[in-house]
Amino acid sequence: MPYDENEESDMTTPRNRTDLRESTDEARLPYRHAQPAESPPEIVIPDALPADERIWVPQAENVWFRPLCLSASRGYWVNLLRVRKAGVLSRHRHPQPVHGFVLKGSWRYLEHDWVATEGAYVYEAPGETHTLVVDEPVEEMVTLFQVNGCMIYVDPDGRQLGYEDVFTKIDLCRAHYADIGLGADYVDQFIR
Ligand SMILES: [Fe+2]
Repeated sequence: MPYDENEESDMTTPRNRTDLRESTDEARLPYRHAQPAESPPEIVIPDALPADERIWVPQAENVWFRPLCLSASRGYWVNLLRVRKAGVLSRHRHPQPVHGFVLKGSWRYLEHDWVATEGAYVYEAPGETHTLVVDEPVEEMVTLFQVNGCMIYVDPDGRQLGYEDVFTKIDLCRAHYADIGLGADYVDQFIR
């Protein structure tokens, strides 16, 4: 049945009624046409939390990251961040939003009074400057972060000390994976 523009809005009825037009026989049929030529291959990483310690790329004392998707074409990255002991992730500013999901342990920002605990989702707003710390007795925290654009490292007054973007992340991965024998091109599987 086609959608009727004049029909009263009914919140219980989806506006998109493709489900009503499809027979049960067709429901489980795969899409039978080619994917767009420009659409890059998907990424599936079964061991996102790697058993192989070498996959973790050292970033600072007690801080590592594990690349999942390094989007060179869109300028963002998705990674697991691991901080151990009293690790501190340098004070930084985000010009664009960041999304986080805490997989293990807990952490907080010196600038806020909340604590991100295991299972928590965190939205970091554009313009935020903050300093991530892991407090005792937490031995280790692991959080999935999707970071857009860049992280600008700053002093307590906001003066710039450095930056990271998807390209510096790729460089760090290449150098580390070459170092530990996996080969610099090990990172290529994560780049889109
Ligand atoms: Fe942040």
